[in-house]
Amino acid sequence: MKAVVISNPGGPEVLQIQEVEDPEFGDDEVLIRVEATALNRADTIQRKGLYPPPKGSSSFLGLECSGTIQALGKNVTCWKIGDQVCALLSGGGYAEKVAVPAGQALPVPAGVSLKDAASLPEVACTVWSTVFMMSRLSAGETFLIHGGSSGIGTFAIQIAKYQGAKVFVTAGSEEKLAACKDLGADVCINYKTEDFVARVKEETQGKGVDVILDSVGGPYFQRNIDSLNFDGRLFIIGFMGGSVTEVNLSGMLARRLTVQSAGLRYRSLENKAAIVSEVEKNVWPAIVAGKVKPVVYTYLPLSEAAESHRLIETSKHIGKILLIP
Ligand SMILES: NC(=O)c1ccc[n+]([C@@H]2O[C@H](COP(=O)([O-])OP(=O)(O)OC[C@H]3O[C@@H](n4cnc5c(N)ncnc54)[C@H](OP(=O)(O)O)[C@@H]3O)[C@@H](O)[C@H]2O)c1
Repeated sequence: MKAVVISNPGGPEVLQIQEVEDPEFGDDEVLIRVEATALNRADTIQRKGLYPPPKGSSSFLGLECSGTIQALGKNVTCWKIGDQVCALLSGGGYAEKVAVPAGQALPVPAGVSLKDAASLPEVACTVWSTVFMMSRLSAGETFLIHGGSSGIGTFAIQIAKYQGAKVFVTAGSEEKLAACKDLGADVCINYKTEDFVARVKEETQGKGVDVILDSVGGPYFQRNIDSLNFDGRLFIIGFMGGSVTEVNLSGMLARRLTVQSAGLRYRSLENKAAIVSEVEKNVWPAIVAGKVKPVVYTYLPLSEAAESHRLIETSKHIGKILLIP
């Protein structure tokens, strides 16, 4: 099969499409013929050699895919050959075929094309497991998403609105904020021209928001703390701005704040399957009802993986970038 190989850790040019062996699959796995895979910011970090795949996973890039089941491990009873699925991967999506534990595959939601389904597993599992399972965002609460136009952000806006939250976003351009508004965001803040703490305070009568989903990290930590309401929860899923900071903790104690952080990729197989199952139960009905839609910026052939990485690193995109084998 063809797959994108990292010839050496480095810039986008190190991504090369090559002929490689088909993946082997275990007794509890399915083999998927890939229809599409989607980029994640983490792929660019793996490409640089800074985000190794978990032990036993494919060394190829690609944290999610959609496609058709081509073969089944001997213990797999929940899928059949020919089923159309999308899947949360620990790696290996940038290829024509990928093996994945059966519990990490999901049916393609009705109303979504097989291609576009590739854009859903990583954002749905990340946002559901963090914002809803751990930070327990609930109807009537206020929710601030940094990077509102990112793959994660465009999904988080929609599912949070569906769940009845009031959604605040930050993004770096008016075009991105307009896209966030179209997806349902209530308060759109251009972080380049406005102080998000002041705007959050103004919009919440001085109280602050109940939950924040952050991927900027260090530079936002103090400002996130300052933007939270009593019993507020900050969930950090990335460190795009850096991971080191100095913080005044006193507001945390006074306002009983919770700070959490977690990554999806290094969780156990059991843990991932449990999250996938919660996502199917809670998120898939919103997608089938047309309340949450895939947001795809562009489709590129797998042979243009290097170009797709250049594009994501410009941060010009809104939503997800898909690669088609
Ligand atoms: N923990 C997990 O399990 C998990 C899972 C998935 C993703 N993530 C993390 O979630 C984040 C979003 O991922 P994604 O794939 O959705 O990203 P993405 O689509 O590439 O979007 C990232 C956006 O963040 C903004 N941004 C980039 N650098 C920034 C900086 N230094 N400061 C402020 N904003 C910046 C940019 O928009 P603006 O123009 O608005 O700045 C950019 O478009 C990443 O940090 C990723 O690693 C974590």
